[in-house]
Amino acid sequence: MKREEIRFEFGGAMAETVGEAHGLTDREWADLDKETVEIVGRLNAARAKTPYRDLPHNKKISQCDEVLASAGAKKGKFDDLVVLGIGGSALGLVALATALRPPYWNHLPREKRGGQPRLWVMDNVDPAEFAALLDIVDTERTLFNVISKSGSTAETMSQFLVALDLLRNCVGKEWKKHLVVTTDAKAGVLRPFVEAEDLESFSVPDGVGGRFSVLSPVGLFGAAMIGIDVEELLAGAEAMDKRCSETTFEKNPAAQGAAVQIGLYRKGKVMSVMMPYAAALRDVADWYRQLWAESLGKTRSDGTQVGPTPINALGVTDQHSQVQLYRDGPNDKVFTILAVEDFGIELPIPDAPAGVAGLEYLAGRSMAELFHAEERATVWALARLSQRPTVRIVLPRVTPHAVGQLLYLLEVQTSVAGEMLGASTYNQPGVEAGKEATRALMGAEGPIKNPAAKGLPAEATTYAALRKRIEAE
Ligand code: PA5
Repeated sequence: MKREEIRFEFGGAMAETVGEAHGLTDREWADLDKETVEIVGRLNAARAKTPYRDLPHNKKISQCDEVLASAGAKKGKFDDLVVLGIGGSALGLVALATALRPPYWNHLPREKRGGQPRLWVMDNVDPAEFAALLDIVDTERTLFNVISKSGSTAETMSQFLVALDLLRNCVGKEWKKHLVVTTDAKAGVLRPFVEAEDLESFSVPDGVGGRFSVLSPVGLFGAAMIGIDVEELLAGAEAMDKRCSETTFEKNPAAQGAAVQIGLYRKGKVMSVMMPYAAALRDVADWYRQLWAESLGKTRSDGTQVGPTPINALGVTDQHSQVQLYRDGPNDKVFTILAVEDFGIELPIPDAPAGVAGLEYLAGRSMAELFHAEERATVWALARLSQRPTVRIVLPRVTPHAVGQLLYLLEVQTSVAGEMLGASTYNQPGVEAGKEATRALMGAEGPIKNPAAKGLPAEATTYAALRKRIEAE
């Protein structure tokens, strides 16, 4: 398959397009050039602190060969792959599956799926939804992949216990063949269980947080199971790694992307909308929303609260919903349009039947042309009529190589943005606090390690103390 570079158009975010109040001036752009290039230099020098950046080229940590061997050995044996995980342990795989498998994958007959399983990523604990899924899959033909870096997240652990019970009841001694565990190499409750039961497992690489783990077995195993070319995905990420390591601003899309986002955040564009014009990329926007929010939404050590609010939208659907607000509401957003040049199909629009007048402009054109025209019209109206700063990321086609480039770019852009904001990009105390509070309310006992680092009050040194505080309030 031909490899093509994804491209970037930042002109729509500049003052010459949307005016000085809403876009970046030449002077500001030059300052952002200096600032981000200095950050890129620092990030390059400290790569060991961001091991997610090694995933594209280091098979030892991506475990790509093991993933491919495991998925290959399972070919034809399962009709359904049920992934149990949440947040960074779920959203990356969903993004890959939506982007790189045909639409309606789970509805296609087995032959059209090439014998590969349907995919269900269960990232919630809604009992009605979970029970309904377990009802529709045939347990004897189902593989469960439980994914939790910490090996302790209550949502995933509860799903795991339900699934384990189901497996033991339905397939008896064979249950181990229906379970793959992806977790930390040492921490959490899953690893000792894997070792005691001699289960098949993958490691979430050390120092790679959930939202940066899509190119590890967290995303790769499920992707390989449903036939996505994970080697091409990694090759795309590797190609983007070269671009994102450049210390010349114009050559580095992560530096320029972060410069636009954070430069405009500083000018009052406190929300960042990602709007793909391709159904295939809708879940990339959902994945990015988590990456951006959980990495950048932080209280700095000086007490300042920072973080642009990410919003995901979909072209053209949201032209008939959000775009009214985007164009005429507060000018407090920067827009990232994900554009695709070639959808692989044109879908010609036929002539209107006799007696239906007024649709002549559509006849003889194609749905792909309409999609492109809608995107162009929206970008034009946002930028030129409403002075809304807008950037475009253009994928020639949605291939594994292009998606690898895109995901990796957005990860490095987040790292650069985190430095610009002075945020602790790789922790998530706000999430950890909620996890511990849930455990406390569910009756957990014992000490809580590092309550302050988890965003909890200092008195919450035990689950009992935390429970007491929550119940009193
Ligand atoms: O990005 C993150 O770190 C989080 O969203 C986690 O992925 C999420 O909370 C699930 O955690 P775990 O994989 O430890 O179960």
